[in-house]
Amino acid sequence: MTNQSKALQMGKKSIAEIVEILTLEEKAALVVGTGMYIAGIKSVIGEAEGRVPGAAGNTMNINRVDIPRTILADGPAGVRIDPYPYNDNTKSFYATAWPVATLLASSWDINLVKAVGTAFSNEIKEYGIDIILAPGMNIQRDPLNGRNFEYYSEDPVVTGYMAAAMVKGIQANGVGTSIKHFAVNNQETNRGSVNAIVSERTLREIYLRGFEIAVKDAQPWTVMSSYNKINGSYTSESHELLTTILRKEWGFKGYVMSDWFAGKDRIAQMKAGNDLIQPGSREDIDAVIEAVNKGTLSIKVLDQNVERILSIIRKTPSFKGYKYSNSPDLKSHAALARRAAAESMVLLKNKNNTLPLTKGAKLALFGNASYETIICGTGSGQVNVAYTISISQGLTKAGYSNMALETLYATYIRQHKFDHPNRQSVSLGTLWIKPELNLDLETIEKSAQELDIAIFTIGRNAGECVDRKIDDDFNLSESEKILIKNIADAFHAQGKKLVVIMNIGGVIETAAWKDYADAILLAWQPGLEAGNAVADVLSGVVNASGKLAVTFPMKYHDVPSSKNFPGTPADDPTKVIYEEGIYIGYRYFNKFNVKPTYPFGFGLSYSEFAYGNLELSSTTFHNRIIATITITNTGKFAGKEVVQLYLSAPQNKLTKPLEELKAFAKTDLLKSGASQTLTFTLHAKDLASFYTDQSAWIADAGIYTVKIAASCEDIKATKNFTLAYELTVEKMNKVLVPQVNINELE
Ligand code: BGC
Repeated sequence: MTNQSKALQMGKKSIAEIVEILTLEEKAALVVGTGMYIAGIKSVIGEAEGRVPGAAGNTMNINRVDIPRTILADGPAGVRIDPYPYNDNTKSFYATAWPVATLLASSWDINLVKAVGTAFSNEIKEYGIDIILAPGMNIQRDPLNGRNFEYYSEDPVVTGYMAAAMVKGIQANGVGTSIKHFAVNNQETNRGSVNAIVSERTLREIYLRGFEIAVKDAQPWTVMSSYNKINGSYTSESHELLTTILRKEWGFKGYVMSDWFAGKDRIAQMKAGNDLIQPGSREDIDAVIEAVNKGTLSIKVLDQNVERILSIIRKTPSFKGYKYSNSPDLKSHAALARRAAAESMVLLKNKNNTLPLTKGAKLALFGNASYETIICGTGSGQVNVAYTISISQGLTKAGYSNMALETLYATYIRQHKFDHPNRQSVSLGTLWIKPELNLDLETIEKSAQELDIAIFTIGRNAGECVDRKIDDDFNLSESEKILIKNIADAFHAQGKKLVVIMNIGGVIETAAWKDYADAILLAWQPGLEAGNAVADVLSGVVNASGKLAVTFPMKYHDVPSSKNFPGTPADDPTKVIYEEGIYIGYRYFNKFNVKPTYPFGFGLSYSEFAYGNLELSSTTFHNRIIATITITNTGKFAGKEVVQLYLSAPQNKLTKPLEELKAFAKTDLLKSGASQTLTFTLHAKDLASFYTDQSAWIADAGIYTVKIAASCEDIKATKNFTLAYELTVEKMNKVLVPQVNINELE
């Protein structure tokens, strides 16, 4: 067959016709990835690298019928491939490290996230990748989860719409996404075996809801099932999750792939609708062939798995023969990464207008992370970048002199690398935080006398395979606490101020030290342009407009999941019971009157905003309610305001959170004095809760209160509407039922 006529095969024939001419061996090869090089594990293709070195996986090519190999690469914060393929350092394949998901979510800006997705897609496509293994969208249940930086929020609505925006931005360019990790993968401890025991209501309202929004709103090409079990079954082996819920209820049309080496039973995975086994091995292929031959796997099921994979392969650049350039537009992407990071950072404190910094101020820059700024987390969420702009470099470029302490820090960091040669690269499971340089009082006092203002950067990193610890990670270490206090005392004694920057990937304790700081900027992990973005906000070139997509508690044990994290038995958990139920994040803090240090939705600006009158389209609910409100910039700086809509539902039958986020919007850049009217639409499902006894989303009859807010604690305007009758919005299947009684918080 000539190349030309071969090309016509997959292109011209229907998927069903192609499946008909495939042999069993070919079908089995298509549902199994091409392997991955790890010592001791045989890869199908006999080598680690496919066409794109460093890509996490591939689907198998069947040349006979012109089915190309397609390329799957990580990850959520940017393309993760080898920067120097095959040790050829004449070419470089660096990628943009975007602001991590938690930071992007703090923008509350769907258009911004979509724009990042669009630029991201250019790198995916131009590096020859077909599907990016992103976005990550698990709920941030507990601050100690090592992978929280890859995820958006504690709230499913923020999570769902952020992920949808990212998927839409990426897929519009003809490359695919894999929303992950479906579902309830909220910890790294024993992630490959732990059984998450969760009530049906909590699954539906919290842990599945974000995925539901993203699937319905954006139709990702693929979904990645997770490592863990839910209520006794591995997610990759759960027909109820992957077929009943994902496909039948939500209408998902693409294919599901396993997480790498996840699950135990290949055949159960096929039957469940986990179409692709990753990374795949010869043994996996043989297991599939044997099961069909023995009759334990019906060929019909296998054909369906193959059809789903082929229907996506047909859309890929590899199938279309796209000639990728290996030179994406990294320059313009860096500019967007910088803007996105700056517009997402959260100003938590700004006493007496400490910020913006005075032009040309002489800075005393403390903290390792000021010089070695952390741009993203570790593991598959890591990105190989050509450069990183540290906070020190960014501030220097912005015209602030900050060299006074640089030599001390540079010497310390260099020495540390020398003393701990194996601890510098943070990869899977080998995470380690460098202790702070212990500066003596004399040095601190000298800088307080000579320099204008202190900046201290707290650095944290985490990633795959390990969860964080409470001591010296969630909580500041003793040396960090002493350092902050000493810096604050020395500078305050001179009538000078202290700014703290949090360069972190997950929530940390703030209550014990926040009073020492005059201003606090939460920069999260800002991507490769970190220092420039921080400088943009500190200087006021960009007005801070991010708000928290996750609650900052007073102490770790205030977090309701802390009682059950990472599960039992404590030293080697086999199960984790979600006893807090739907009460995670602000749903818990509000309802049980526990005061956080910084509430969900909170963030300051250099400007102020006035909220006008809230108008509802009707006082009774029929198909929808439209809420409008006008926001006016009453301050001196141009700025953007994030506006949140919470809804309080009647609680006659079921206990419910006091209020829940249902919609959000961000204004355009409003000049001083300018106004903008924002519109929010509430649909029937937004009124409903999940009634377990009926397996249905039901909106209770009664009075609903719309609350327009600047944060979950700062309600600016409220108005009621009535639902005259009880409404069964959607009847679902009774699935994923826990096998044990859960003593759920009510
Ligand atoms: C991670 C996934 C990732 C995959 C491929 C797994 O360890 O959990 O998020 O996409 O590896 O690198």
